[in-house]
Amino acid sequence: MSQPNDQSSLPLVVENLHKRFRQEGVDIPALNGVSLAVPDGDFVAIMGPSGSGKSTLLHVIAGLTNATSGQVRIHGMDIATLSDRRMTALRRRQIGVVFQAFNLIPTLSVQDNITLPVQADGRACDLGRLLRITSLLDIDDKLDRRPGKLSGGEQQRVAIARALLPAPAIILADEPTGSLDSEAGQNLCRLLRTCCEQEKQTILLVTHEPSVAAWARRTLVLKDGRLVGKIPSSDQNDAQALAAAYQSIIQA
Ligand SMILES: Nc1ncnc2c1ncn2[C@@H]1O[C@H](COP(=O)(O)OP(=O)(O)O)[C@@H](O)[C@H]1O
Ligand SMILES: [Mg+2]
Repeated sequence: MSQPNDQSSLPLVVENLHKRFRQEGVDIPALNGVSLAVPDGDFVAIMGPSGSGKSTLLHVIAGLTNATSGQVRIHGMDIATLSDRRMTALRRRQIGVVFQAFNLIPTLSVQDNITLPVQADGRACDLGRLLRITSLLDIDDKLDRRPGKLSGGEQQRVAIARALLPAPAIILADEPTGSLDSEAGQNLCRLLRTCCEQEKQTILLVTHEPSVAAWARRTLVLKDGRLVGKIPSSDQNDAQALAAAYQSIIQA
């Protein structure tokens, strides 16, 4: 049974999370005891070298893969106790995910791709919100197209709009600026910042770009599956200071 939904509980709590993969008889420790607590409206960036466990952490939080041990609690609910059906419902309503694979449906228009999760959940689509988000992402003139006719960066922005439209309490984003040019990347960061400030959405964003992490309120540094440092953010224009702080944590 799941725990009651406690009003006072945080949107996201991760406690002593471990994840080991087993491949050809070899144990690969991807997460080695990660704990974090994220309040409403927080915007947290996670930086770390390639292979440090960033994607694994987001996948476990999204319930797409099970932890080996430890807990993920979303609004006080231990996700390991949820049935597949309840986990799917939780993902639709409370968690918006933007992963490295866009997973767009090629036979649907851009608009239908974006509204699919809301419609699958039996809710009415807020067209005003759809237009606001797509215009901020500069894809509002592409709503009738099929994803196959768009560039990689445009497809990425469609995937982002799809995650934002249902106004989930938590947004998990894995290198969301990876296929965007720097101006589109900064626009996306501005949009995420607006989501957290105006709608109290909680954002966990993985990136290796200091200029992206600088938009978050704080940056956590992951190394060998452990959180090894924290950089409070300051100022979105100060990517250089963040890069320097990151390097000194990684090299310590
Ligand atoms: N499905 C998997 N099977 C086996 N090993 C995996 C799998 N996914 C990730 N790993 C391993 O776990 C470690 C962390 O990977 P990942 O979370 O993708 O790192 P990052 O996103 O920081 O680059 C790496 O050593 C990676 O090879
Ligand atoms: Mg990754």
